[in-house]
Amino acid sequence: MSTVQEKIEQMLKKKEHLMLGGGEKAIEKQHSKGKLTARERLNMLFDEDTFVELDMFVRHRCTNFGQEKKELPGEGVVTGYGTVNGRLVYAFAQDFTVEGGSLGEKHAHKIWKVMDLAMKMGAPCIGINDSGGARIQEAVDALSGYGGIFYRNTKSSGVIPQISVIMGPCAGGAVYSPALTDFIYMVKNTSQMFITGPAVIKSVTAEEVTAEELGGAMTHNTRSGVAHFAAENDEDCIDQIRYLLSFLPSNNMEETPHVETGDDPNRQDESLNTLIPDNPNAPYDMKDVIRSLVDNGEFYEVHEHFATNIICCFARFDGRSVGIIANEPNVMAGCLDVDASNKSARFIRFCDAFNIPLVNLVDVPGFLPGVDQEYSGIIRHGAKMLYAYSEATVPKVTVITRKAYGGSYIAMCNRELGADQVMAWPTSEIAVMGPAGAANIIFRKDPDKEARTAEYIEEFATPYKAAERGYIDMVITPSETRPYIITALNALSSKREDNPAKKHGNIPL
Ligand code: HXC
Repeated sequence: MSTVQEKIEQMLKKKEHLMLGGGEKAIEKQHSKGKLTARERLNMLFDEDTFVELDMFVRHRCTNFGQEKKELPGEGVVTGYGTVNGRLVYAFAQDFTVEGGSLGEKHAHKIWKVMDLAMKMGAPCIGINDSGGARIQEAVDALSGYGGIFYRNTKSSGVIPQISVIMGPCAGGAVYSPALTDFIYMVKNTSQMFITGPAVIKSVTAEEVTAEELGGAMTHNTRSGVAHFAAENDEDCIDQIRYLLSFLPSNNMEETPHVETGDDPNRQDESLNTLIPDNPNAPYDMKDVIRSLVDNGEFYEVHEHFATNIICCFARFDGRSVGIIANEPNVMAGCLDVDASNKSARFIRFCDAFNIPLVNLVDVPGFLPGVDQEYSGIIRHGAKMLYAYSEATVPKVTVITRKAYGGSYIAMCNRELGADQVMAWPTSEIAVMGPAGAANIIFRKDPDKEARTAEYIEEFATPYKAAERGYIDMVITPSETRPYIITALNALSSKREDNPAKKHGNIPL
């Protein structure tokens, strides 16, 4: 019979062994690829010494293909909880050093457990993916594992923030857990996501493509929009996740965290009074406007590299988080297209689900005309913006800086979509369409077309027609915008609005 001391030592030895995952050689291989190990990643994610590991001793029970002889420490995934910026967070990190981080039955059960705990506790759940996918030897048990993860992702959606981190391969149906979560981070050069890899694609369609071109970080951050954030390396990625969490409440019942930013809520910025060019067709940088308005000029873009004709970002006004949706006149004149509609509708719905007020900065000439856009379903996708804004019950503040034409004026959250306060700069042009388009339709047969167009500009290229009807609440000096937004957000902080009781709506997908 061993003594108590011996039992403790035995346990410590077991733990020491399990903590090494696939062993020193495999760890070296992981490092040589520029990747951290699962435990290194988690230790970096959580506040120092707060990570508590669960289920370290869990073992698989597969007996196929000699698996019964394999130990697979920790089942190829490290799970647990700790604090990030002092707040509770649950996480799992797949351990590529153990059978390629592949997902078998018990590996999945470990993930299920932290997902269930995160839901019960109302805490964010972060999943770090670095895996060869379904553990082939475990066959349908592995598929059951994924199914249970997808189910939990969906049940947790809109209740707790879910963040997926891709730090290695992520292939096959395994990509669908990340796709069901709120945000996907990818690390440049070391992470890939695809349904079928380059070899399968070559055999089926004869297309040749590298794994990085097909599903690397920048592919998904620029072309497909599958990923929301790109990081230079694991460390940069984890720093960014900690930063993102600082803007978010822990669950849908909480208010957003308040951060003392030290920026004066009454600060005015004279430079905004000269920012809009005299030529209404000349672009300017909407990010300059955002930088000027928000606390300390600090904001964090979601989908920074995708659909850059619209900006979606988190920022703070007087210490409180907001989601900003802003047209970017510098890119495609700020037109709304299929990608911009998808990007912003999803962001609006995230903010609404988590009590984050929306601030909309509008300079939009219209939905992008074009056969390709029509064939791609701009009607269906553009409708998502209308739906998302109309459905959102968080405070909604809209500031029109210049153009606000037609359907896109409505789609950027005008009064009728439920904006609680609408402000316009004197440079605003709120009309059904721009002067050139209008002239081509209603004055095309008029011998005095030029004079009539000038009349149209005088009449409609202003905020005053809309102000006369009360569609906008006030015309303000651009320099005063920050104090006006903060005063509005303070007033709206007690806003109570409910949608009609229903099972769920049917957003155009
Ligand atoms: C079992 C796996 C595995 C898997 C990797 N390994 N993937 N074991 N099931 N899916 C093992 C390898 O045999 C190897 O074991 C170790 O992990 C490390 O893998 P390597 O191949 O040596 O690493 P590397 O060269 O870096 O290549 C990584 C890889 C490659 C690109 C991920 O392993 C790979 O292509 N794996 C298969 C990917 C795949 O097709 N998965 C199924 C996807 S379908 P040893 O013992 O040699 O160290 C899917 C369905 C999900 O996931 C459905 C959800 C609905």
